[in-house]
Amino acid sequence: MQIITSVSDMQAHADALRRAGKRIGFVPTMGFLHAGHLSLMGRARQENDVVVASIFVNPTQFGPKEDLDRYPRDAEGDRQKCESAGVDVLFTPAAAEMYPEKPVVFVAVEGISDILEGAIRPGHFRGVATVVAKLFNIVRPRTAYFGQKDFQQCAVIRLMVAGLNLDVEVVVLPTVREADGLAMSSRNSYLDRSQRQKATCLFRALSAGEELIKSGVREPDKIRQKMRAVLGREKGVEIDYAEIADADRLTPPETLGGRMVLLVAVRIGSTRLIDNLLILC
Ligand code: PAJ
Repeated sequence: MQIITSVSDMQAHADALRRAGKRIGFVPTMGFLHAGHLSLMGRARQENDVVVASIFVNPTQFGPKEDLDRYPRDAEGDRQKCESAGVDVLFTPAAAEMYPEKPVVFVAVEGISDILEGAIRPGHFRGVATVVAKLFNIVRPRTAYFGQKDFQQCAVIRLMVAGLNLDVEVVVLPTVREADGLAMSSRNSYLDRSQRQKATCLFRALSAGEELIKSGVREPDKIRQKMRAVLGREKGVEIDYAEIADADRLTPPETLGGRMVLLVAVRIGSTRLIDNLLILC
């Protein structure tokens, strides 16, 4: 596996690969890799000639009071995991390499970036869209792989790719979970034992919402209330939102039908966790 840290080296390498007719599959990450990230790399390995993964903890998507400084890191462990997953090139730029100056150019995906996660984390999706656009220009992938775990992020990226006519295919893969349903996340490492147990409430709330829909309930409010009740039962869990939305636009539905998504976000101590479930009804 080759490790590249400079933008110009990565661009030159990607250009040479494309000229040689190689298909590049790309998995952008912020590191502290787990089985969710590895599932994306595994699929990229199956579908491409060359797999590029990036590890970059992107400062522009963190708010001033968020966890940028304490975001978990494990450079050597991540390197080994990428190697085992069959990654050919690991791109790990420093912040000063990606942003040599204070950034003045941003990609804004309006509307969808201001609701749900975006309402609670202003500027977050602007930072995500900007860094993913930059990474696409640096890595020049044919296909890029993202996890459904970050459902709204996937919607933002799809809209960005369509809106800017980027020549990249976006593939979204299912959320990988622990045995008790908790969605894998680098941030799970912040949780102590008791918080880790409480954290199962996200998947329990989503499952309870899904059950209600399967039993024939069609009022969005009843679904929201059910999810909030499951989350609210857990002491020390603060609810940011528990919503049902149209799966494409993420707007609240009048009545249920078609592709819907249940979305929850909570804070347990100082740790924020999100999860979602796609429902066809
Ligand atoms: P990060 O949180 O490291 O996630 C990298 C990719 O792994 C994202 O596409 C995310 O949705 C996916 N992923 C995370 N947990 C997963 C799980 N349990 N199952 C399946 N996929 C999972 O998301 C980011 O980094 C950043 O915002 C990034 C896109 C790299 C831009 O900075």
